[in-house]
Amino acid sequence: MFVSECLNVNEKGHLTIGGCDTVELANQFGTPLIVYNEETIRKNCREFVSSINEHYEGKGLVYYASKAFSCLEMCRICKSEGLGLDVVSGGELYTALKADFPPEKICFHGNNKTDSEICEALDAGVGRIIVDNIEELRKIGRTAAEKNKTAKVLLRIKPGIDAHTHEFIKTGQIDSKFGFALETGEAMEAVKLALAEENIELMGLHCHIGSQIFDIDPFILAAEVMIAFIAEIKKETGTELTELNLGGGFGIKYTGDDNPESFSEYMKKVALSLKATAEKYGIKTPFVMIEPGRSIVGAEAVTLYTVGSVKEIPNIRNYVSIDGGMTDNPRYILYGSKYDIHCANKMNEPRDYMATIAGRCCESGDLIQKDAMIQKTQEGDIIAVLSTGAYNYSMASNYNRVPRPAVVMITDGKPRLIIKRESYDDLIANDI
Ligand code: LLP
Repeated sequence: MFVSECLNVNEKGHLTIGGCDTVELANQFGTPLIVYNEETIRKNCREFVSSINEHYEGKGLVYYASKAFSCLEMCRICKSEGLGLDVVSGGELYTALKADFPPEKICFHGNNKTDSEICEALDAGVGRIIVDNIEELRKIGRTAAEKNKTAKVLLRIKPGIDAHTHEFIKTGQIDSKFGFALETGEAMEAVKLALAEENIELMGLHCHIGSQIFDIDPFILAAEVMIAFIAEIKKETGTELTELNLGGGFGIKYTGDDNPESFSEYMKKVALSLKATAEKYGIKTPFVMIEPGRSIVGAEAVTLYTVGSVKEIPNIRNYVSIDGGMTDNPRYILYGSKYDIHCANKMNEPRDYMATIAGRCCESGDLIQKDAMIQKTQEGDIIAVLSTGAYNYSMASNYNRVPRPAVVMITDGKPRLIIKRESYDDLIANDI
């Protein structure tokens, strides 16, 4: 019935997550509140790991893409599950290191890494730096030389695949700001430069075709293109690269209309194609890395809000105003994202009321959803927006000087605060 198995309804007719009553959570911690369920997050981690074990003889590593939701506790969970971590900024790297995440299991991304980020990555001894462009490649080479270190890198390649997803979150096509293009010869030029750089060790290639993708075919196609390129590199330079990072992007269930395949099915098909293509081109099957973000945390959290007012405009629309909005969830205003929304304290009542869930910012577009079907709602009700675990808190802002919400993790049926609610003092902490 729900987008995640961690959700249910209790005898009071209240929505539960990880066995906890969301209405009680709202009372205890206040709203807006983001609530994650640890058990299903860990289950997702394990499913990714076991799918590589089962279908690819364990010859790979799962890196959690921390941009989906980065905080100390998420880093600790990933560490204890044996995952690697994909970080995309100095800030995400700092968070990982503060959580004692092993640096050798971190890969450092970014399409325009700053000089100081390159230094931070090298000083920390991150396992891999994913190089985006020629200038950066040279800069990493120079900085590594100055530090008397060798940077282990992967080159980010645009495989020329057009994944079927929102325009803003597809990345694998030639017209993209990310990575080296294959078609223009730029990627081969970068490979040769990387091989020639003294303080750079080229370990392999990386690609990421986009996010929230349901169709497995574009992933398979990308894997094939990358293997073909590894073979071409071998032919042209004599070097056979041994690592292939296939990125993330696996779609999750936001509403009943979404139907993602299991991770295992994805890995099974991709592994088959990797093996067959490697054999066809006469190269060894590479060590594979994948970088799931959304699919680890996305469906395992809900955001709880309190309704402040209901404005019924006859023959036009019903606005249900909540105490959060684009400041904690900018995904509707950015992508028109669909969500499954419930009145958490009225779960046994019919969802026959059409409501536009409006945020509290001075911005007409500050909506969480337009014309959603929910239970008939009034002031004081608790609204639960499901599948808000990925790219919500991590994209939250302080627009209108709204403090970011608190985040709670349910562990063994008990809630614990993992991120405090921002205070007004936090808001002016850097003001001078
Ligand atoms: N690896 C790379 C290089 C990426 O750029 C991304 C996401 C991932 C892995 C993880 O992708 P995932 O498994 O989470 O789909 N803010 C957007 C999503 C942006 C994705 C950015 N890159 C949203 O809210 O839908």
